[in-house]
Amino acid sequence: MQLRKHFLLSFLALSSNVLADLVMFESNDYSSGALGLGPFQTFMSSSSTPAIGNFVVPYNDSTSGQIEDGLILLAPRGTDVNSAGPLIYNKAGSLVWDGTHFGQTLTFKTDTYKGETVILLWTPGTLFGYGVGAGYDLIINNQYEVIANFTADINGTVLADFHEIRMTFNDTALITAYQPIPWDLSAYNITNGWLLESYAQEIDPATGKAIFTWVASDHVNPSLCYATPGASGTAEDNPWDFFHINAINKDDFGNYLISSRHCHSLYYVGSDGNIIWNIGGMNSSVTMNNGTTFAWQHDARFRNNQTQISLFDNEGTAWELDSSNSRGVLLDLDLAKNQVSLNKEWLPYNRTVSESQGNVGILDSGNTIIGWGQVPWFSEYDSNGQLLYVVQFGVGNVQGYRAYSVNWTATPTTRPSVFVQENGFNTTIYTSWNGATEVVTWQLSGSTSESPQLAIPLSNTTKNGFETVIPFNSSSTNYKYYQVAAFNSNEKIIAFSNFTASDGSSQAPAANQTVDSSSNSTTGSATPSSSGGLRSTGSPSPLSSAGGALQNLLRLPSVLVALWIIVALS
Ligand SMILES: *[C@@H]1O[C@H](CO)[C@@H](O)[C@H](O)[C@H]1NC(C)=O
Ligand SMILES: *[C@@H]1O[C@H](CO)[C@@H](O)[C@H](O)[C@H]1NC(C)=O
Ligand SMILES: *[C@@H]1O[C@H](CO)[C@@H](O)[C@H](O)[C@H]1NC(C)=O
Ligand SMILES: *[C@@H]1O[C@H](CO)[C@@H](O)[C@H](O)[C@H]1NC(C)=O
Ligand SMILES: *[C@@H]1O[C@H](CO)[C@@H](O)[C@H](O)[C@H]1NC(C)=O
Ligand SMILES: *[C@@H]1O[C@H](CO)[C@@H](O)[C@H](O)[C@H]1NC(C)=O
Ligand SMILES: *[C@@H]1O[C@H](CO)[C@@H](O)[C@H](O)[C@H]1NC(C)=O
Ligand SMILES: *[C@@H]1O[C@H](CO)[C@@H](O)[C@H](O)[C@H]1NC(C)=O
Ligand SMILES: *[C@@H]1O[C@H](CO)[C@@H](O)[C@H](O)[C@H]1NC(C)=O
Ligand SMILES: *[C@@H]1O[C@H](CO)[C@@H](O)[C@H](O)[C@H]1NC(C)=O
Ligand SMILES: *[C@@H]1O[C@H](CO)[C@@H](O)[C@H](O)[C@H]1NC(C)=O
Ligand SMILES: *[C@@H]1O[C@H](CO)[C@@H](O)[C@H](O)[C@H]1NC(C)=O
Repeated sequence: MQLRKHFLLSFLALSSNVLADLVMFESNDYSSGALGLGPFQTFMSSSSTPAIGNFVVPYNDSTSGQIEDGLILLAPRGTDVNSAGPLIYNKAGSLVWDGTHFGQTLTFKTDTYKGETVILLWTPGTLFGYGVGAGYDLIINNQYEVIANFTADINGTVLADFHEIRMTFNDTALITAYQPIPWDLSAYNITNGWLLESYAQEIDPATGKAIFTWVASDHVNPSLCYATPGASGTAEDNPWDFFHINAINKDDFGNYLISSRHCHSLYYVGSDGNIIWNIGGMNSSVTMNNGTTFAWQHDARFRNNQTQISLFDNEGTAWELDSSNSRGVLLDLDLAKNQVSLNKEWLPYNRTVSESQGNVGILDSGNTIIGWGQVPWFSEYDSNGQLLYVVQFGVGNVQGYRAYSVNWTATPTTRPSVFVQENGFNTTIYTSWNGATEVVTWQLSGSTSESPQLAIPLSNTTKNGFETVIPFNSSSTNYKYYQVAAFNSNEKIIAFSNFTASDGSSQAPAANQTVDSSSNSTTGSATPSSSGGLRSTGSPSPLSSAGGALQNLLRLPSVLVALWIIVALS
């Protein structure tokens, strides 16, 4: 009943164009573009405008329990995206972090640096029309502070490209870089030809110095690749991208696995730069058994102690389709027999080719997240390959380079944000705290204009999505300012907002409202580390509770089912 009331309230709010913590399920209005080509939501306490997700294939009672706990990392981009850049959502579709102030990105993932879980993020820079970039790679800690900012190290002239950033176990970063260089293309009847060189680099983020540089044209003959110059190769700003590096791994032996999209090949490269073997393409040194051929691939990486390789097999590019669909694949690598065999493939639910981008994320439980790249969907499969759900995050030109499911706990250094709306005695306080994963309860306090920093506790509200809405009947009070305090699951205060009035004026908290930083710390606390987004339900199995809420909502009149506010899922 309460769910229904909240839902109806949000439905009314919708008509006045206030969309807060929205997610949709099998919405034809969304898929058809009736809600726009890049539907996004807005909030009262935040200027964020993140994409609304539409579960084209929703989870249900039988599949929701299979979903692995975690948060979704996504970086929507494209001409129909309102604000491009990195976003974190929980698996119920609520925003957790809006990082779009860093700008458009492709690579956006978590990784381990100096023993801490961090965010790795490429920032622009320039995005060149021929599909590569030049910018900076950031390492961001769990308070959203930039702790390293580095780029490629190639004679000081070439900046890091956006296709890869990945940490090694040695706290070094694997990155890609590109550079147009003059090249003899007379064989293609091009005078004064230009080649787009691909580089793989291993960089020490602490010094910015390269530990390893691999230059593609030193080892691979451009004529052995599938993208001919065509109209390219004629000028420095129109170079021939013969190789198109897009993924790098380093293994326990200190060797590298380098993916070339345009050569349809993975190169296993020693620390001296020489190719030890290669899989795929025109001259595979490894026998490719049935079902293993891939084309225009992305996100190739070793799995299971280098006995397997996963990759996103696009099977198409802007000018060529090689199959009816893209797929995720897991290959068994048998070097004793010098062959690869198909272990598993993950197919898109409606057989679509994604002409660019895409990734395969195999999770600890054996579940797999596939990001469909140029097609703005991601899907989760269970360890048996059963499809659990598919989320669409745009309709028109909306793309996401990779989608990840990760554990991430973070407490920002910023204060929670508060917006106060007064309607007679009905006061509504909207609060959000961008990027915070550990808030369970918001305590509302009021203060008067005489003692603006004297907080009188008024009520507690369970955190509910990105933005929590707190109603307050102010008929018998004279508060001018409202403040929230964030409680974590240990019932410790981890942040105080400013004291904020409905006219927008605000007072910082007094010195006596300080936060014990040990309660703030995600590493030092007694709380088991987990993805904060879903645990505020207090349920040992948050996803099944998400499924339960779904069931409740499905009992609503069907006209309302397509659209609702997330209630009690946060
Ligand atoms: C990273 O460094 C570059 C070059 O100094 C600078 O332009 C850029 O603003 C830095 N990025 C951040 C987020 O600090
Ligand atoms: C750096 O410059 C030197 C000398 O100009 C050149 O020999 C070398 O190839 C360059 N290295 C790269 C990676 O471009
Ligand atoms: C180059 O031009 C010559 C003469 O027009 C032609 O015969 C040849 O096929 C062309 N080669 C290529 C690669 O286009
Ligand atoms: C890791 O770093 C150490 C110390 O810098 C170095 O000796 C070692 O060779 C590195 N390991 C690999 C696989 O690169
Ligand atoms: C080859 O692999 C495909 C899947 O890619 C499968 O459908 C087919 O049955 C396999 N054929 C043989 C002969 O194993
Ligand atoms: C990984 O494989 C190597 C040999 O290829 C072996 O020495 C090592 O013990 C394996 N590690 C694990 C965790 O299985
Ligand atoms: C797959 O589904 C999406 C979204 O529902 C739709 O836009 C697309 O046209 C479908 N593709 C095919 C081949 O059915
Ligand atoms: C996230 O943490 C949970 C337990 O807290 C664990 O079961 C799961 O494997 C972790 N997932 C990832 C992707 O690390
Ligand atoms: C305040 O809320 C009450 C009950 O929800 C409602 O009856 C009343 O009309 C509201 N007052 C204003 C001024 O909106
Ligand atoms: C905290 O400081 C403010 C401003 O000085 C004061 O009004 C308030 O009484 C203090 N609160 C407590 C609990 O001491
Ligand atoms: C809100 O919850 C916290 C933690 O349980 C508690 O300490 C506090 O007194 C509560 N505040 C109100 C106004 O109920
Ligand atoms: C809090 O108030 C301070 C000034 O007192 C202001 O600089 C800051 O931006 C405010 N923070 C928020 C989240 O409103």
